[in-house]
Amino acid sequence: MKMAHLLSALAVAMLATSVQGQAPAPAPASAATYPLQQPALPYQFWAQEPLIDNMTQMLHWTKHTATYFENVNKAIKPFPALQALTVEQMMPAIGTESIPMNISKAVRNNAGGVYNHLLFFKILMPATAQSNATNNSALPANIGQAINQTFGNYTVFKKNFTEAALSVFGSGWAWLTVAKNGSLAIETTPNQDNPLMVGAKYSGSQPILGIDVWEHAYYLKRQNRRPEYIEAWFYVVNWPQIDANYMAATGSNAAAITSYASA
Ligand SMILES: *[C@@H]1O[C@H](CO)[C@@H](O)[C@H](O)[C@H]1NC(C)=O
Ligand SMILES: *[C@@H]1O[C@H](CO)[C@@H](O)[C@H](O)[C@H]1NC(C)=O
Ligand SMILES: *[C@@H]1O[C@H](CO)[C@@H](O)[C@H](O)[C@H]1NC(C)=O
Ligand SMILES: *[C@@H]1O[C@H](CO)[C@@H](O)[C@H](O)[C@H]1NC(C)=O
Ligand SMILES: *[C@@H]1O[C@H](CO)[C@@H](O)[C@H](O)[C@H]1NC(C)=O
Ligand SMILES: *[C@@H]1O[C@H](CO)[C@@H](O)[C@H](O)[C@H]1NC(C)=O
Ligand SMILES: *[C@@H]1O[C@H](CO)[C@@H](O)[C@H](O)[C@H]1NC(C)=O
Ligand SMILES: *[C@@H]1O[C@H](CO)[C@@H](O)[C@H](O)[C@H]1NC(C)=O
Ligand SMILES: [Fe+2]
Repeated sequence: MKMAHLLSALAVAMLATSVQGQAPAPAPASAATYPLQQPALPYQFWAQEPLIDNMTQMLHWTKHTATYFENVNKAIKPFPALQALTVEQMMPAIGTESIPMNISKAVRNNAGGVYNHLLFFKILMPATAQSNATNNSALPANIGQAINQTFGNYTVFKKNFTEAALSVFGSGWAWLTVAKNGSLAIETTPNQDNPLMVGAKYSGSQPILGIDVWEHAYYLKRQNRRPEYIEAWFYVVNWPQIDANYMAATGSNAAAITSYASA
């Protein structure tokens, strides 16, 4: 354990604090630090059938997502200072010298993969109880008003978000984010990057909704038909959860967005 790494971890914690402008939220009750543990999903892998299929969800969670957990744990194994951080606290450190150089790529890809997939699976709901929100009056009040304010209405938001998700070349993500001043924006990131990492377009903004447009998220059922996947995905977005995420992002508890402690 080198002193430099201890100091780095301190810097990471302080950075996380200053980025949020307030004390970090208390860590969720579940094992939120090393070894990062994949939680249980609050629904079955077939819950989004037929819109998103059982096998895709199963492989996506038990293989792809599990591998990100495994590999981030492997990378930070020699670094106790990084082990003290939750995956949420790691995000603003990615792209900075706080992450030792020989694991910076592994942490970027795999801690990023963990964070992104926790968010992705948390904002989905079973197709049987879906909101099928096709217009803004069906959305919960807080996020509904914010979407109206930024985009005019839900239809415009959906169109813009779809265009963003289609514009991602190769593998990556499209996000709905909350900036530090509370305003909404749509952003895209390549690979397993996200807007919390240093170097993103509006770096430091908080994602509250994200779609994975890696082919592993849709190829089995829909092959190369990404537009069809995006349209189907919209039907199983859990808007009450997005509303809660929006309130958490504008309040003081961004860590709740990716926490499964109460799921
Ligand atoms: C989902 O897939 C798993 C694994 O193939 C299978 O055991 C299960 O029966 C499937 N469930 C449904 C509802 O299709
Ligand atoms: C990174 O360096 C540390 C020593 O500082 C070493 O323990 C670890 O095995 C290295 N990791 C990789 C992936 O090279
Ligand atoms: C929601 O929309 C999907 C896709 O059009 C449809 O399959 C499903 O039956 C709808 N569910 C409800 C409850 O309206
Ligand atoms: C919008 O959604 C609300 C609530 O689901 C529904 O009552 C209303 O008919 C919808 N309006 C349009 C224009 O689709
Ligand atoms: C958003 O605007 C639409 C009209 O474009 C309106 O029907 C809806 O009630 C508004 N939603 C909220 C949450 O204010
Ligand atoms: C939505 O997309 C339209 C058309 O590309 C663009 O003019 C507008 O600025 C976008 N709005 C937001 C809030 O991103
Ligand atoms: C949403 O806003 C656009 C642009 O102002 C408008 O053309 C469209 O009719 C609106 N849709 C709804 C459902 O209000
Ligand atoms: C809020 O911050 C975003 C991103 O930094 C910026 O684009 C936007 O103009 C700001 N909005 C206000 C009302 O200051
Ligand atoms: Fe994925």
